[in-house]
Amino acid sequence: MRAPSRLFPNVNQIQMLRPGSTRPGDEEAILAAYSTEQIAPRYHEAIVAWQKKNFPELDFLEKNWGTYFGKQAPYQLVAKVGKLQTETIQYGRFLGKPKFEKAGEMTGNMFYSARDIIRAQASTELGSIEQHRLTLETAPTDEMKLSVLRIMAEELRHAYQMFWVLDQDSSWKKPGHPDIASDTMDELLAMHLGTHVLDAFNIPFYNFLDNIVFATFIDLVGKYQLEMQKVFSYAPMARSMGPMLSEEGFHIGSGRSFLRELAVGAVNQTGRFSLEQIQKTINIWVPRGAEMFGNERGGETAVAFGFKDRNNGTAQSEYLAECREVVELTNVAIVQAMLPDTSAPDARVLVRTIQDTGDVQRGIRPEDLLFIPHGNFFRKRGLEEVAYQPFDVHGNLLTENGKPIPAAIYLDYLKKNLPDYFVGDAEFAKYQAGLLEHEATGGRPHAW
Ligand SMILES: [Fe+2]
Ligand SMILES: [Fe+2]
Repeated sequence: MRAPSRLFPNVNQIQMLRPGSTRPGDEEAILAAYSTEQIAPRYHEAIVAWQKKNFPELDFLEKNWGTYFGKQAPYQLVAKVGKLQTETIQYGRFLGKPKFEKAGEMTGNMFYSARDIIRAQASTELGSIEQHRLTLETAPTDEMKLSVLRIMAEELRHAYQMFWVLDQDSSWKKPGHPDIASDTMDELLAMHLGTHVLDAFNIPFYNFLDNIVFATFIDLVGKYQLEMQKVFSYAPMARSMGPMLSEEGFHIGSGRSFLRELAVGAVNQTGRFSLEQIQKTINIWVPRGAEMFGNERGGETAVAFGFKDRNNGTAQSEYLAECREVVELTNVAIVQAMLPDTSAPDARVLVRTIQDTGDVQRGIRPEDLLFIPHGNFFRKRGLEEVAYQPFDVHGNLLTENGKPIPAAIYLDYLKKNLPDYFVGDAEFAKYQAGLLEHEATGGRPHAW
C-alpha cells in the first residue's frame, strides 16, 4: 500500500483525447480520463485498517493481479478524479448556473441531501465487500473467485472515492455545526452487515449464487445511480462518476457471464446449482434492486437539486427492462445448450414464444427458462399499493373472494418462490414481521 500522503493529481494517467472529436463513445472516454488523489492520512489509514480487518484477501488479489488482469493497471487505493460533462448545472432549479465546487454553497436541505447520497453510496460499497466475503471461498472456479476479489477491491476504492468527496472540501464543516464530513466517515467505518443504509446491503450471502446474482442485478442498480449522477450539481461528486462507472462495467459483465455459465451448467448437469435455485435467488435480489431506486413516485427533489437526471420511477422501469434483457440473453444460452444447433436469433424467438404462450416448444418448458419477477413481487418499500401487497411473480394481485389474500397465505406463496435457507433466516423474518404488521394496521404508507 502506498504511504498515505496527499498527492498532486497524477497527470500521467490523464488520457490524451483528440480535440474537437465527437465520435460515439468519446464522451465515455472523456469521463474515464482521470487524475488520482489520496485522502488525508487519518482517513486513509482508517480505510486501510478497515480493509485489513474486513478484506484481508486484498493482498492475495494484488499478488495475483498480473496473472488474471494483466492488461489492467495494477490496483491502487486512490480517488480517481474525472472530468465534468459540463461546467454548468444541467437539471433542476439551478439550471445553467456553475456547478457547486464547495458543499458550503449548497444551502439547507440540499447540503444534507447531498451528504445523504454520498453516505448511502459509501455504505453500499463497504456493505457489498462484507457480503461477497461471506461466500468467497465457495467460488466454483478460480476465475470466479478472482473476479469477485477484484469487484471487492474496486468497491473498496469506491468507498474511498466517497471519502475523498467528503475529505477534499473543508466546507462540509460549517461554523457552529458538527463536522459533517468526519462524522459521516466515522459512522461509515463503524457500519456493518445489518446496519448499512440500504436493505440490499444487509442481507447475508449464503452461497456463490448470491455473489453472481448480486453482481448481475444489484451492481446494475449501482450503474444506474452513477449514470444518473454524472450530472451532479456538486462538482466533486460529478467528477467521481466516470471512473466508478467504468469499474462497474467489469462487475456487471462478470456477473452476466458467470450467470450464463451457471445456467448452462445447470442444463448440462455439470454445474453446482439448478435452474430452480438460480431462479429463486433472482427472486430475492431483483425486488431489492427495484427498491433501491426509492419510491416510484419520488426522486423529483434530487432532480430539482440537479443531483440526478431522472426521477425514481423512470430509472426503475429502465432498470427492470435491462434486467429482462440480461435474463433473455441467459435464456438464449440455455436454449443453445439444450438444442445445440440453434442460432442465437432463433433461440431468442423460441424463448419469447415459450414465455409468451407458456407452452412447451421443441421440448423446452417455461420452467426450463429464467425470468425476472414483476416489479411488484415481494416488495416491502415503495408505493402504498405495492409495498407488502400480495403480488405474484407475474405481477398479479393474489385475491380471495375479491380481496387480497391474507398475509399468512402470501407467506406460503413466497416460501415456494424463494430459497429454503432464505425463508428460514433473519431477513425473511423481518419481512414477515413487517407484512403481518401491515396487515394488522390496515397498511400504512412507507414513504422512502
Ligand atoms: Fe461500487
Ligand atoms: Fe460494483
